[in-house]
Amino acid sequence: MASSADQKAKIIDGKAIAQTIRSEIAEEVRGLSEKYGKVPGLAVVIVGSRKDSQSYVRMKRKACAEVGIKSIDVDLPEDVSEADLISKVYELNSNPDVHGILVQLPLPKHINEENVLGAISIEKDVDGFHPLNIGKLAMKGREPLFLPCTPKGCLELLVRSGIKIKSQRAVVVGRSNIVGLPVSLLLLKADATVSIVHSRSQDSEKIIREADIIIAAAGQAAMIKGDWIKPGAAVIDVGTNAVDDPSKKSGYRLVGDVDYKEACKVAGYITPVPGGVGPMTVAMLLKNTLDGAKRVIGQ
Ligand code: GUN
Repeated sequence: MASSADQKAKIIDGKAIAQTIRSEIAEEVRGLSEKYGKVPGLAVVIVGSRKDSQSYVRMKRKACAEVGIKSIDVDLPEDVSEADLISKVYELNSNPDVHGILVQLPLPKHINEENVLGAISIEKDVDGFHPLNIGKLAMKGREPLFLPCTPKGCLELLVRSGIKIKSQRAVVVGRSNIVGLPVSLLLLKADATVSIVHSRSQDSEKIIREADIIIAAAGQAAMIKGDWIKPGAAVIDVGTNAVDDPSKKSGYRLVGDVDYKEACKVAGYITPVPGGVGPMTVAMLLKNTLDGAKRVIGQ
């Protein structure tokens, strides 16, 4: 922890903000149930037994239960065929109790992710990964039915912390389909001037140093150093990298893409890891599911 004399950055408490959002969702879910006798339903599909995916899925299912959303659990073996997985998606598409479908990524190598994500009905695409939803996000004047959860959570953190986005310089570090690319598009929609830097960029450090808003989604532990950050910048750290730590019972701890201790001395705002973006991803998934259900109920 930085000493209080060094500490400049305001810590953005993602866990607390997510909790507020979850309470708001729980209240709306109660209202839907009382007024229309309908409960939002989320199908969470996992293939195989990757430890990280299992832990994310467990969190998502538990979060559903806590706000009164019904989770429909689909656990498929590692060797399930692409055709069988897609049949399952079609079955969920036509199940009226299911308002959202999430297929946890990554999928095993023998399954084509594009085919699976493209099979999800866009009305139930609560991850916002269907090419039509991403395409609409990329186009001026078009509105996707759902925004991807982690990018939406990043923007929500900025907005709820009172950080100006319009006309500000934002840099996104990383260009993944799940975070880097969609968060860039969202920032652009919010009228920021957006740069994207990635593993093949030259002068990343220089470009990052010019940014008022940094979204770090590179998947590289503590890659962004304190002196890469413009004084007063808002830093949203999406990284969750496991590094060895013998002092922990698990043998590891999670760190972000930003050198947190150094960044706290320079940045104006910063999200911690864990407890920053992670809880927001789950809250936005619940929100998308609720919104999907409201759309069907005609609310
Ligand atoms: N794997 C890592 N992040 C995500 C996410 O937001 N959604 C899904 N479906 N899989 C993921």
